[in-house]
Amino acid sequence: MPATILDGKEIAARLRADIKSRVDERLDANKRPPGLAVILIGSDPASQVYVSHKRKACEAAGIYSISYDLPEDTTQHELLTIIEELNNDTKIDGILVQLPLPKHIDTQLVIEQIHPDKDVDGFHPENIGKLTLRIPALRPCTPYGVMHLLDYTGETYKGRHAVIVGASNIVGRPMTMELLLAGATVTICHRFTKNTSALVRQADIVIAAAGKPGLVKGEWVKPGATVIDVGINRLANGKLAGDVEFNAAVEKAQWITPVPGGVGPMTVAMLLQNTLTACNKHQL
Ligand code: GUN
Repeated sequence: MPATILDGKEIAARLRADIKSRVDERLDANKRPPGLAVILIGSDPASQVYVSHKRKACEAAGIYSISYDLPEDTTQHELLTIIEELNNDTKIDGILVQLPLPKHIDTQLVIEQIHPDKDVDGFHPENIGKLTLRIPALRPCTPYGVMHLLDYTGETYKGRHAVIVGASNIVGRPMTMELLLAGATVTICHRFTKNTSALVRQADIVIAAAGKPGLVKGEWVKPGATVIDVGINRLANGKLAGDVEFNAAVEKAQWITPVPGGVGPMTVAMLLQNTLTACNKHQL
């Protein structure tokens, strides 16, 4: 039997509706709406699409959002100054700087300029450190969204082997910490791993997050595994493809996410969740 599709679009829509009702409860109690500042630098087409999804989702959920669309030649100092103003803005609970940044800007410096309480991407060393120490605060959106998808399957984590392909700061590393926190045994593969296929073949849960279309072959998937594809790759023919060979993997897995419509919408929903969490915690 082919796998059941994990419909991230549908699951994210339900999450967003729930977030909207919690935002409405704030408004009914005469509290201000949560506020998110979204900063985009330059004109990378993929980043423009992601940012527009984030801004629209905020509006639909009743979250106040302010947008900064800055030119490619914005200086690091200008960006740091804007972030400092937003750190001090009492209407703003979350600050998101879309990555990647132009090469002349030091990404880590920018991430560390965002106050940890407003770091709704969960990328600040304080938030990554807290997740690592099992005291999660604001959690990176994509791994957090993947955990919601895995929770949806109803499968247990304890005693299961999760294999993550890709060790990025945004996905692979925090994903490792989320799965470890949930009780899975975790293996992380990266560009220097010699036997990625042999490791994936052992996986009860596969997380593909390398950004390479079709890297994870369908034949590697263990029968009955859960396959989560974080990759969003634009092919030469204009179509989107994940990191997993979907057509072959769907025949072996028990659960699998599509691309698009799997992890992507969950990332946006978790950003709204983090903004509401930051608001409720720090701005009563
Ligand atoms: N670029 C790709 N994914 C993300 C994300 O989750 N947050 C930000 N800020 N930039 C990204």
